Amino acid sequence: MNSLDQSIKASFSSSGMSVLNLARPDDWHVHVRDGALLETVLPHTARQFGRAIIMPNLNPPVTTTAQAASYRQRILAARPAQGPGVAFEPLMTLYLTDNMSPDEVRRACESGFVHGVKLYPAGTTTNSNAGVTDLRHCVVTLEAMQQNSLPLLIHGEVTDPSIDVFDREEVFIDQVLEPLRRDFPALKVVFEHITTRSAVEYVRDADAEPGMLGATITAHHLLLNRNAILVGGIRPHYYCLPVFKRETHRLALVEAAISGHPRFFLGTDSAPHPQSLKENPCGCAGCYTAPHALELYAQAFDKAGALRRLEGFASFYGSDFYGLPRSTDTVTLERTSWVLPEDVDADSLGVVVFKPGKDLSWKLR
Ligand code: DOR
Ligand code: ZN
Repeated sequence: MNSLDQSIKASFSSSGMSVLNLARPDDWHVHVRDGALLETVLPHTARQFGRAIIMPNLNPPVTTTAQAASYRQRILAARPAQGPGVAFEPLMTLYLTDNMSPDEVRRACESGFVHGVKLYPAGTTTNSNAGVTDLRHCVVTLEAMQQNSLPLLIHGEVTDPSIDVFDREEVFIDQVLEPLRRDFPALKVVFEHITTRSAVEYVRDADAEPGMLGATITAHHLLLNRNAILVGGIRPHYYCLPVFKRETHRLALVEAAISGHPRFFLGTDSAPHPQSLKENPCGCAGCYTAPHALELYAQAFDKAGALRRLEGFASFYGSDFYGLPRSTDTVTLERTSWVLPEDVDADSLGVVVFKPGKDLSWKLR
């Protein structure tokens, strides 16, 4: 453990507790895909989380409320028939394009089931080619979102090929996010899956009213730094976007997650791809964390000596941001050492589950 991890740990009394009860958490950023893959992966999310913000980057993307309605029905149909997942609620999003109309924003708001619009700068990540080429094309749509309090969920990376891939989030803050927030001061914004100290500081220190600015943090970015991808061989299952950064950035993310600051909340960004597309000369970006997501977060919080901060991060701050009621259901984690299975029960699809490289110390009951 390095000195910052130690100082984080020292600031919390180690509890030695063996059972942890939490209000049922929600996942404020997840990819559940479609078709056979949806049926395979959805039960994993539904088993742990009461609700989840569903990413719209299907192929073709979910750009209209009507498409979101039918995708929502397919997700509801993929819920497990029994157990805690039966009541899982998908919270839908639309995929922003250069020509989404303000009328679509109004339809989304009237639907009651669309909770945000996702900005993928064109070319940033999986199925982002139909994304936004320039935010100047979206001004009237963003105005409608601002008026209707519909949050903009942002993949915060620039695509300029001259910018180093490890710097793309930081450059995005200066070139895109700050000007956007200045031009649309009443727009609700979630800076998704932040990966850098700069993003933590930007969100923490921004002059924003409660409920106007938030950031999601993944379990995999809390647990690993960029060495995981490259040391001892190239490890495609640790490749995601935004890519893991240096250790100093991971530590900043841990500090933010355990800080109790309500602008930081849980979003797994679990992103399953078939094994053959991960273990490939041009492998897809995405870590498939859904099967053990809550346990991975518990691991990260426990390592920082901050388990008592997990419930706010996992179960309260996201619902407060989205203006939804906090869960009244509960989940229980038990302290026990266990090893993640080699792969998930994914039929012929063979989706490989993210493993943090060591045993886990908490298990969902
Ligand atoms: O690693 C990622 N995978 N990052 C994203 O932004 C998209 C996601 C996916 O859909 O595969
Ligand atoms: Zn994502």
